[in-house]
Amino acid sequence: MRRTIILRVDGENPDLEKIRLAASIIREGGLVAFPTETVYGLGADALNPYAVREIYVAKMRPIDNPIIVHVASRKDVYMLAVDVPKSAEKLIEAFWPGPLTLVLKVSDIIPRVTTGGLDTVAIRMPRHNVALALIREAGRPIAAPSANLAGKPSPTLAEHVIQDLYGRIDAILDAGPTNIGVESTVLDMTCDPPQILRPGGVTHEDLKAVLGEVSIHPAAMARSEVHVERARSPGMKYRHYAPKAAMLVVEGEFGSVIGKIRELAEFYLKAGKKVGILATDESMKEYDMGVVKSMGSRKDLSLLARNLFRLLREFDEEGVDLIIAEGVPQEDLGLAIMNRLRKAAGYNIIRI
Ligand code: TXA
Ligand code: MG
Repeated sequence: MRRTIILRVDGENPDLEKIRLAASIIREGGLVAFPTETVYGLGADALNPYAVREIYVAKMRPIDNPIIVHVASRKDVYMLAVDVPKSAEKLIEAFWPGPLTLVLKVSDIIPRVTTGGLDTVAIRMPRHNVALALIREAGRPIAAPSANLAGKPSPTLAEHVIQDLYGRIDAILDAGPTNIGVESTVLDMTCDPPQILRPGGVTHEDLKAVLGEVSIHPAAMARSEVHVERARSPGMKYRHYAPKAAMLVVEGEFGSVIGKIRELAEFYLKAGKKVGILATDESMKEYDMGVVKSMGSRKDLSLLARNLFRLLREFDEEGVDLIIAEGVPQEDLGLAIMNRLRKAAGYNIIRI
């Protein structure tokens, strides 16, 4: 057991005393959870292999799943990566700080445990004053996966970090809910054209506007498990975002989706199951059964993304046996949302 201290800070203007305390824990090889604009991360000194190893232990994360390195300044990229292409510089200029992670050729200073033994490193500069202040005060890059136990939905509130990691880490910086709610886009810059390995806060459309051509890894859009070579995208092969409840996603034309969900919910309720329905504002009133929660209006995909992981955890707290979720169109942020929903459901998908 570790003694976990909780430090409440303002998200815009964090108390420097508390940031310095957290930064000193990082420098000494400890583990600090902190907010970013996407989800909470579990940070350690990216250059200290012993500290990074503790991240895998605390999260119970498979040791071959590499960790994103977070920086507070654009030029830190040149210390952590080599052969940085012009295209990456354009993206850094356009989207950092922000939810875009770039996979580049790794430099010698990064320990192998941080990259899961790969010869590439994933780097991003988060758009959050607490994260940036922590990295600056620590005086070194911070390796941070999402601050959940491996396989669980990512944390969008400090309470989620407490649920999963209290007693397993040294500190939690709590600055309230995160803004984007799904993780950063992971873009592989070592291939041509660059390829999205994980859709996220910066969309395919955003990237194409800057680079022209950008491909999407088939597994990122898949409706079933896709075999992935480990060297390309190690994270994809593991179960992700899974609530305790069983889960089902219904995709298709909106009206038919509602009808199918009603039918399924009635069936499982009759069978004595506690059913949760993950709905949207436009469909809420159509469901007069089970535990119904709305992610927000379908007109605002950013709202759906922000609420998604929190609602999955809420269904678990209410002891739901089965979650039935509405799919959304795969455009813009919808691609990231569908990627998370399908994985959370273990690819239990009904298409109508
Ligand atoms: O928004 C985010 O990205 C959050 C916040 C905390 O920054 N972090 C996050 O980290 O989601 P994590 O570890 O939960 O997901 C990182 C993903 C994994 O799928 C991992 O396999 C992939 O990035 N990744 C990391 N390094 C990689 C590399 N060198 N090559 C390919 N994929 C990599
Ligand atoms: Mg994660």
